[in-house]
Amino acid sequence: MSGVNEKKVAALEAVKYVKSGMKVGLGTGSTAFYMIEAIGEQVKNGLKIKAVATSVETEKLAKKLGIEIITLAEAKRLDITIDGADEVNEDFQLIKGGGGALLREKIVAHNTDLNIIIADSSKSVSRLGKFKLPIETIPFATQLIIEELKTMKLSPVQRLRGDQAYKTDENNDIVDIDIWNCEDALQVLEERLKSIPGIVETGLFLNTTNVVILGQGEKAVSRKR
Ligand code: A5P
Repeated sequence: MSGVNEKKVAALEAVKYVKSGMKVGLGTGSTAFYMIEAIGEQVKNGLKIKAVATSVETEKLAKKLGIEIITLAEAKRLDITIDGADEVNEDFQLIKGGGGALLREKIVAHNTDLNIIIADSSKSVSRLGKFKLPIETIPFATQLIIEELKTMKLSPVQRLRGDQAYKTDENNDIVDIDIWNCEDALQVLEERLKSIPGIVETGLFLNTTNVVILGQGEKAVSRKR
């Protein structure tokens, strides 16, 4: 068994951590979908939580399922966030943002006590970087940032939707870069990227994850930091 079913296996295991009274961060993407669906089911059966959504898409789905959505400002701090990832390594470090929601996802993760990542087994890697790293940029600066990233040999490509620039929920651009051959340590790369004005956020999540739950066949395999 792989793909969709492993996503659901991981999602259902993560939902066991959610208890009444909690403030919960809801991730974005096809794996998070199963988690939101399962929480929605539990809410119908009496679970009482308040949730913060990491994207407009997640907010719409959660509301449709009867999950109460509050703002991050109202929540102040979240007990738990459950989100997907594009890649996860042995050190609980991630690439996220394949779905374009990395900025809100990183803000929510930063303001959460327990961050749980759910994924199918294909997302587990020994080294990050086969997946192109998404970078969120301010449109005013995007073209110049692309030129700068070229000089860093990171093969930047602006993400498109059809023939238009892809826009995030914050109306920013996404530039996908290739970090596979980059010799910098991940932390150093993160700092170099964040030091370029106009780069709002990167999809490198290096220190936020507490628990990784992978669907492996029919089993959920958890690792805790
Ligand atoms: C959204 O921007 C991403 O960070 C997702 O969490 C990530 O792309 C995983 O998505 P899937 O669960 O759809 O693979």
